[in-house]
Amino acid sequence: MLRNVVITQPLPADRLQALSKQCNVQVLDGSLPLSEALSRDELSACHGVICLLTDAIDSPLLEAMPNLQFVSSVSVGVDHIAVEALTRRSIPVGNTPGVLVDTTADAAFALLLAAARRVAEGDRYIRDGQWRPESRWSPDFFLGKDVSGGTLGIIGLGAIGQAVARRAAGFNMKVIGWTPSGREVPGVDSVSLEELLLRSDFVSVHLALAPQTHNLLDAEKIATMKPGAVLVNTARGGIVDESALAAALDSGHLYAAGLDVFEREPVATSSPLLRHPRVVVVPHIGSATTLTRAKMVDIAVQNAASALLGQPMPHCVNPEVYPAAAPH
Ligand code: DGY
Repeated sequence: MLRNVVITQPLPADRLQALSKQCNVQVLDGSLPLSEALSRDELSACHGVICLLTDAIDSPLLEAMPNLQFVSSVSVGVDHIAVEALTRRSIPVGNTPGVLVDTTADAAFALLLAAARRVAEGDRYIRDGQWRPESRWSPDFFLGKDVSGGTLGIIGLGAIGQAVARRAAGFNMKVIGWTPSGREVPGVDSVSLEELLLRSDFVSVHLALAPQTHNLLDAEKIATMKPGAVLVNTARGGIVDESALAAALDSGHLYAAGLDVFEREPVATSSPLLRHPRVVVVPHIGSATTLTRAKMVDIAVQNAASALLGQPMPHCVNPEVYPAAAPH
């Protein structure tokens, strides 16, 4: 009997062809949480889920899915999934690492440059009709902050953090880094988080969101950042205390911020961050290029296909669910 796999939002049909031969695929439109989009019977009959980072795969939902055999997310981050609860049930969870590394690092650097050199502010200035003949150019017009030669502090030295470090080398930046694991990375001077915040002209966040990293950059830590620093976050909004960040920008302690991610998405238009002229915001598009998104979907589908065949997922965040290979 074919098993039932739910895909929470439409994905390119051509990338799902092979999977459709392996199982019954039900594609939802993403307008409702899974618990509301599916009937109790459909939830109970579901063997696999391919989801996005906007889908909460939480414990109450999992309780309604007694026959679930895998979850495959089209994302590298899995903070929307109750991974521990799934691990307890020996259910593998797949993600899509690797393929979005360069794309996300490019986005982080774009935000860093845009925030430092006031790109979004300048764009608004012209469109709003404020660029007039009497203010055409002057030595102190629209001054920004030097990127080249500055010190970049990278929080989180995984693949994306390292890719950002490589880009910074091209800008002749001094790169220092901190990661909770204490990992050493060539070309990056490992320092404590305290030292990183104290010394960095630019801080870029590249950690996963977990209980230990939630509000890691809180008011106390932000207060220790170098005066005039720029904060860039393309990881998860929950890692930075947004009210504290807004207050540090308003007081002039921080120069600017470049944000791709927010504690709640979409961010409320009433957020104080959006009122600050030197905050550059984009709507969680760090990995949003055609090629990268296609690769992410392909990996998520491969993870699902492997699970359906009873094989280990190529990219599994809880590989402990697979019985260890028998000792020789
Ligand atoms: C992810 O995959 O977790 C990223 O946030 C997508 O951009």
